[in-house]
Amino acid sequence: MIRKLAIMVTAIVATYTTAFAQANLNLIPQPREISSQPGHFQWQKHTPIIASPAFKNVADLIATQNQPVKIFSGRHKADFAGTIRILEADSRTVPDSNGYQLQVTPSSIAVYARNAAGAISGAQTLMQLRLLQPDTNLIPAVTINDQPRFGHRGVMLDVSRTFYPISYIKRFLDLMWLYKMNTFHWHLTDGAGWRLQIKQFPELTQTAAWRYGNTWKDWAATGHRYAHEGDPNAYGGYYSQEQAREIVAYAAKRGITVIPEIEMPGHAEEVLAVYPQLSCSGIPYKNSEFCLGNDQTFDFLEKVLIEVMDIFPSAYIHMGGDEANKSAWKTCPKCQQRIKSAQLKDVEELQSYAIRRMERFLKSHQRHLLGWDEILEGGLAPDATVMSWRGENGGIAAAKAGHNVIMTPGAYCYFDHYQADPATQPEAQGGYVPLEKVYSYNPVPAALSATEAKHILGVQANIWTELIPHAAHLEYMAYPRIIALSEVAWSDTAHKNFAAFKARLQSHYLLLQRLNVNYFRPSYTVTIKPEINYQSKQTTVTFTSEQYQPVIRYTMDGTTPNAASTLYSGPVTFSGPALIRAAIFRDTMIQGTPALLEADFHKAIGKRVTYNLPYSKNYPAQKESTLTNGYRGSVSYGDGQWQGFEAHDMDVTIDMGTTEKLNDVSINFMQLTGVGIYIPSEVEIAVSPDGKAFQTVQLQKNDVPDNISVLTFKKFATSLNGQLARYIRVKAKNAQKGFLFADEVIVH
Ligand code: ACM
Repeated sequence: MIRKLAIMVTAIVATYTTAFAQANLNLIPQPREISSQPGHFQWQKHTPIIASPAFKNVADLIATQNQPVKIFSGRHKADFAGTIRILEADSRTVPDSNGYQLQVTPSSIAVYARNAAGAISGAQTLMQLRLLQPDTNLIPAVTINDQPRFGHRGVMLDVSRTFYPISYIKRFLDLMWLYKMNTFHWHLTDGAGWRLQIKQFPELTQTAAWRYGNTWKDWAATGHRYAHEGDPNAYGGYYSQEQAREIVAYAAKRGITVIPEIEMPGHAEEVLAVYPQLSCSGIPYKNSEFCLGNDQTFDFLEKVLIEVMDIFPSAYIHMGGDEANKSAWKTCPKCQQRIKSAQLKDVEELQSYAIRRMERFLKSHQRHLLGWDEILEGGLAPDATVMSWRGENGGIAAAKAGHNVIMTPGAYCYFDHYQADPATQPEAQGGYVPLEKVYSYNPVPAALSATEAKHILGVQANIWTELIPHAAHLEYMAYPRIIALSEVAWSDTAHKNFAAFKARLQSHYLLLQRLNVNYFRPSYTVTIKPEINYQSKQTTVTFTSEQYQPVIRYTMDGTTPNAASTLYSGPVTFSGPALIRAAIFRDTMIQGTPALLEADFHKAIGKRVTYNLPYSKNYPAQKESTLTNGYRGSVSYGDGQWQGFEAHDMDVTIDMGTTEKLNDVSINFMQLTGVGIYIPSEVEIAVSPDGKAFQTVQLQKNDVPDNISVLTFKKFATSLNGQLARYIRVKAKNAQKGFLFADEVIVH
C-alpha cells in the first residue's frame, strides 16, 4: 500500500516536470525580453477574450475557437481569471509605441500595447507561442517585453512574371503575419503582365494581363507576345479592384500595409504593347520605356494612380524606376524637346524629371514616392524614399543626403536567388543567398552616422518570379528565408545569434509542416571554409551546414568519405595540398552530394599581380590580392573571391619574385549566363624571365557552349615541365563582352 502511494507521487511529479519541460519558447523573431514561469494556461473553446475598444479587430484575429469577444470599458474593476485580454497600456508598461507586453499565467493571458500595431504583434506572439506547443491548448506561462527594431519589415512579391491568385495572396499574408513582417510590396506591373484592373484603361487587363507561354521562360523564349482575356491558351490573370481592396483589408487586419508598385519609366513593355503611342517609337513590342517627352505618358500614369490611390491607402506608392534603358530617349524628338524645354542636361536628368513629376503628383494627393535606387541617378526627387537593391551604396548615398531608405540588397535579400548548391536545386536566378547569409545581414551600414542611420526605415526581401512558376515553388523559395529575415527586421542586434536561431528554427520547421508550407528543407550541403595562415603556410578548414548538429565525415585525399572516414569535431589544420571531401551522414548513408575543397598552399600565394587591363570596379573581390591569396571562389560570384572583368579581356601578369622552376599553371572561370558571366573563349598562358619578352606556352580554346545557362565552371591548365621563369601572364578573351570571373591563378 505504501509503495503504491510512492509510485503515484513520482508519477505526478513526472507529469508536472514533463509539462514544464515541454514548454516551447522557440519564438522567431526573438523577443527582446522573455522570462519563463512554471505552469501553463489552458486555452478553451469558451475562454472569453476581452479587448479595449481600439483592439476589437485584434481580438477577432485570435478568436480562433469562436471564443466570445467582449469589449472592456475599463470603468469597472473586473475579474480577469480565466480570460485572454488585449488592453491598452501606457508607456510605463510598454515603452515603445509599437511594442507590447505579453503575460501568460496559469490563470489568464494579457497582451498590453499602445497602438494597434503593437497589439497585433503581441497577438502574433501569442498565436506563434500557441502553434509551437505540442498541445496547442496549453500555453506556457511566460512574460515577454518586446518591440521592433525597424518599422518597415517587408516582402516584395512579383506577380507579373508569375500570377498568384487572391486565395494564395491571403495565405502568403497569413505566413507573413506569423513572422511579424508588416509590409507587402505588391509588384503589380511589369513587362510580363499588368495585374490590376484600371477602369479607365481596360486594355491593360483585357490584353496586357495575358500572354502566350505558361511560364515566364516559355513566354520569353517565344517572343514576349501578349494574348487576350478569354483566349483558351492564354496564361495570366489580374486582380479586380474589388479583390485588391479585399487584400488591403485582409492585410490591414494582420497589421500589414500593402504598397502597390506601378513601374515607370522602364519595365513597361506590357503597357506599350497596348498603348504604343506612349512609347518613343509608337510601335508595339519595340520599346520597354515610356516616352518622357509625351505628356500623354504622364496623363496615363496620373489617371492610373488616381485609381490606385483609391484602392491602396498606403502612405507610399512605389513607382519602380529601375533598369530603364535610356537609349531611345537619346534620339526621340519628343524626349529631346523635353530635355531642352525643362533645361535638363541629359537622359539621366530626364529620368529624374519624370520621377520628380510623379512625386509632385503623389504629394498633391498626400502620398510619398518610393523607388528603386536608380531614382538617385540624375538627381533624387526632394522627398523620395529609396529602396537600395544594387548593393548598399544607393541606400548609403540617399541616407547621407537625408532621404529615407529601405535596404533590399541583392546579396542578402533576393529570395529568387539560389539557397543551396545550384547543382542540387531547381533553376534559380544567379546569386547565392543561403539562410545564414540572410541572417547575417545588418540593414544599418557601418558607413552611416547615428543620425544618418535613423533614415534606414527597414529591410525587405524581394521575390522576382521569372523562375518561380507556381505557389508551391514560391513557398520553397520564401521559407525559411523569410523567417531569417524576420529576425533581421525585428530583433535587436544584441539578440542575434545564428547558432541560437538555428536551434529555434528546428521548432519552426515543425510548425511549417503543420501548416503544410512547402518550405525548403535545410540543405545537406557542407560548406568548407578555409583560413590560410601565410606565416606558417598552413590551412585550417571549418565545416558548417544548415543541418542541425550534423554528423560530418571527411577525407583529405579526394576520395568519397564513407562511414569509417574521420568524424569532424572541429577545425582541421594542415600543411601542403589537400583535396578535402566532406559529407553529412545519417547512420552509414551519405546525405546529399559531398563537398569538395582544393586546399593548396601553391607557389603564387602572396605574389604580386599586375593588371594590364583593370578588374571590374563593381566586382573587385579582394582587389590586387584576389588571384594569389590562396582562397578559391565558391558557387557564388559575389562571395568576395571571384573577381570580375567587365566588357573587355582579362590580362594579368604575376611576378613570382625570383626565377622559379614551374610545373603547372591553372585558372578557373565561371559561367552564369543569366547575369552575363561567360567562360572566356580562349585562355593564353605565357611566361617570361624579365617581364618583357613573353613566350606563349599554351593557347587553349573554350569547349563549353555559351548557351549553357546553369552554373558551370571550367579549369584552364597548362604543364610547364620544370621550365624556368619569373613572370606568368594570363590573358582571357571576353568574346561576349559580358563578364569574366576568375578566382585564383594556381602555380606549382
Ligand atoms: C530590381 O531588382 N530590378 C529592382
